[in-house]
Amino acid sequence: MSNAPTGYSRLQIRLHWVVAVLVILQLVFGEGIAPDFDSMLESGVAAYSAASIAHIVAGVAIGLLMLWRLSVRLTRGVPPEGAGITGLAGKAAHWLFYAILIAAPVAGLVAWFGGSETAGDLHTLVKPALIALIALHVAASLWHHFVVKDGVLLRMKNPG
Ligand code: HEM
Ligand code: HEM
Repeated sequence: MSNAPTGYSRLQIRLHWVVAVLVILQLVFGEGIAPDFDSMLESGVAAYSAASIAHIVAGVAIGLLMLWRLSVRLTRGVPPEGAGITGLAGKAAHWLFYAILIAAPVAGLVAWFGGSETAGDLHTLVKPALIALIALHVAASLWHHFVVKDGVLLRMKNPG
């Protein structure tokens, strides 16, 4: 983008960290909804334990926050992403986060409210995919900070 901003806005930074915390909570506590889902598939009656309600509310929130973030990204823009093959990898990883974090709640909702085991199976793929992507993302952030020393990590701290 020719008139790309030099940094992320305060809103973009807040959205990044709120989503990061919610995603980590979903990964740590995600399995809490599985017993309710299994009994729902067997009996056809949905049981709403606190764990299931928390999973659904946090999951829907992540999806909505990602849509909000996407609209800000498309209207305000983001600072220039790196050049070359690593820059391209970073760009791909960022878009993959958007794709997964919007598709995951949709699959979860179809599984739960549609009683679909197939959607549930697809939804569980989210866990390994996100863990791999987050590991890569964090490693890349630390590499930028400690090896390349180009200030990329600080872009998610200081608005610009
Ligand atoms: C981005 C948001 C979400 C993330 C990161 C996420 C993550 C997870 C994780 C890690 C699991 C455990 C997978 C496992 O047992 O290996 C899970 C299970 C499940 N989630 Fe989500 N979830 C999200 C949104 C939702 C939403 C909005 C719903 C809607 C009801 C939902 C419904 C389910 C169901 C039904 C299961 C059990 C699936 C099964 O055992 O086959 N999730 N989720
Ligand atoms: C755990 C869930 C996380 C998700 C889903 C996530 C997602 C994203 C996405 C989509 C972007 C692209 C910018 C945007 O569109 O707003 C981004 C940028 C960034 N993230 Fe994360 N992130 C996570 C965790 C982290 C963590 C733990 C760190 C720190 C170690 C981190 C550091 C950064 C940095 C420094 C950028 C800016 C990269 C740049 O300017 O090119 N993220 N993140």
